[in-house]
Amino acid sequence: MRYYFWINMNTEEQQPKSRREQVRAIGQSGNYWYAMEMSSKLKKGKSVEVIFWKSPIALYRGEDGKVFAIENRCPHRQLRLTSGIVQGNEITCQYHGWTFNGCGKCTGISHELGKGKAKDSLPNIKVNSYPVQEKYGLIWVFPGDPALADKVHIPEVPQLTQENPWEFVPLDFTLKAHFSMILENVCDFNHAFLHRKFKPFTDPHLLGTRHEGDIIYVDYETDMSQSSAVKTAGEKKGEGLEDMTLWYHYPYQGSNTADKYLHWLFMTPIDEKTTRCFFVFLLGPLEIPFINKPVPKFLRKTVIRLANFFYIVPLLKEDVFILQEEMLGQERHPHIQHLEFNPIVGGFQKLSIKKWNEYIHTEALRKQKQLDSKERYIFPGAGLTKKELQEYNRMLEESKELEMQS
Ligand code: FES
Ligand SMILES: [Fe+2]
Repeated sequence: MRYYFWINMNTEEQQPKSRREQVRAIGQSGNYWYAMEMSSKLKKGKSVEVIFWKSPIALYRGEDGKVFAIENRCPHRQLRLTSGIVQGNEITCQYHGWTFNGCGKCTGISHELGKGKAKDSLPNIKVNSYPVQEKYGLIWVFPGDPALADKVHIPEVPQLTQENPWEFVPLDFTLKAHFSMILENVCDFNHAFLHRKFKPFTDPHLLGTRHEGDIIYVDYETDMSQSSAVKTAGEKKGEGLEDMTLWYHYPYQGSNTADKYLHWLFMTPIDEKTTRCFFVFLLGPLEIPFINKPVPKFLRKTVIRLANFFYIVPLLKEDVFILQEEMLGQERHPHIQHLEFNPIVGGFQKLSIKKWNEYIHTEALRKQKQLDSKERYIFPGAGLTKKELQEYNRMLEESKELEMQS
């Protein structure tokens, strides 16, 4: 497709970039819901800054409990709105007291508006705003085209929405690594060596991959019986736990073992070197060790917290460390090809690049439409700058002309 032109070329040298170089430079499509913060971390009347691919967003919870997401920039002098105060369902900049509602519209200014102008002759001032919702104990933001927000859904996790939902305690990590690197880590079991102490998967064999639209499934045969978490959960020999399916359900990642042990990883890309990761681990059976009786409901959260503390977090810290090492390797040797033996890596990279290109393409068209209609406020989806989109449109025009000439 024509829009692949955008990142297939290095604009400075006009040299094709390797797929790895391309993927390590891109963000994720804003036209999906992204977990941005734990619900419990944002109290009524408070605000917090979150970032989606270099775009700062002010998340704030109004005094009635509703959460709003607007651009974290006071248009007066570009201060962060999160350094201000929340009153009612609005946020006010700390400096000169400009107030914004959840739609990003300026609803009040605390000072006179020039000589002889009354305070109530409020000019039309706006910042970008984003659809927001809360689910699974997380705050989700839709950073792209708001018109698509109702058509795209947060992944359904039946274990959390069924009548007797499973208990869970989400984990929040900010990793110093590009999101594609994290994906390649989580789905590539060839790194069992790294986890030789905790043994979450032993002697893994890749059985195959399946593509279904924007989902890639990866099937492994592995031995989970040596994992202390599985043993603690009451699995004596790990029977029935030999097969694990992982997926890249764009832009989310997850796994399922025998419908008993599952996880979801909701990533939010911050920049080329940083990714916010919310892990939801779902531990099905949870039995009391030695007596093999189910853990009573009121104790399950405590047991999960203990499992997180003693097993899952130390295990993930091994990955956190190794991904920082991989980032260093990439910085030192950005152009050297990898010697990659796992075919899923290429498949994941292709899907990420395709979705990013689509995002730039649809946002550039949306921006062009708004420009044509001479709308005053033109906000591209978060993660994309007006300059980037203009450049994309310019290149598109050029390639159209070239096509017509040939
Ligand atoms: S900088 Fe925000 S009100 Fe002046
Ligand atoms: Fe790992």
